[in-house]
Amino acid sequence: MLELREYTIPEQKHIDWLNDKDLMRYSDQRHVHHTRASVQHYMFQVWFRGVYLNDVLIGTVAASIDKHNDVADLGILMGGRRGYGKAAWKLALDELSTHRMIVAGCMVGNQAMQTIMRRTMEYSHIIPDRFLYDGKPMAGVYYRRAGEAALRLREEMAGIYYRRL
Ligand SMILES: CC(C)(COP(=O)(O)OP(=O)(O)OC[C@H]1O[C@@H](n2cnc3c(N)ncnc32)[C@H](O)[C@@H]1OP(=O)(O)O)[C@@H](O)C(=O)NCCC(=O)NCCS
Repeated sequence: MLELREYTIPEQKHIDWLNDKDLMRYSDQRHVHHTRASVQHYMFQVWFRGVYLNDVLIGTVAASIDKHNDVADLGILMGGRRGYGKAAWKLALDELSTHRMIVAGCMVGNQAMQTIMRRTMEYSHIIPDRFLYDGKPMAGVYYRRAGEAALRLREEMAGIYYRRL
């Protein structure tokens, strides 16, 4: 069974995933050396969950929360097993749907991540040349998803609009 769980003390394999330059090739985290202390520090600052498959940690999802605008900026790291990224992402979107909006982005070269966002969120925009990848400019692509309350409001507004027609 795949589930998200509260996860507060980093496991060693989680730190190893973050220091794996190949796995992190499409993340700015590849420029940073991670230690237990640095990972723990980050975890305390954001919404953070472990992704567990049959009680085994296979990834993490994290969101920095912009409280003033009620927006969650979501990211994912699947280190243990491939093939569960989209399912874990959906669980995270569900749990964060109490926020007004959820946003996410990645380098255009990150095809798997783009597929996940395309299937679960609305396209927002591209920033050309946003990143440097192997010294060459690469665009960033960004998606968004309205939270449940915002979606309900949008439906109500559409209802009011059509009733007026
Ligand atoms: C990006 C990441 C989360 C994908 O996880 P995953 O377990 O491989 O994802 P899934 O197997 O659920 O695949 C999601 C979709 O992408 C597709 N996909 C996977 N690898 C792909 C590739 N190399 N090229 C194109 N599509 C790909 C899958 O077919 C699937 O599509 P589907 O919905 O049609 O079946 C994972 O590789 C990861 O954690 N990478 C390192 C950290 C990272 O880059 N995070 C994102 C930075 S913002």
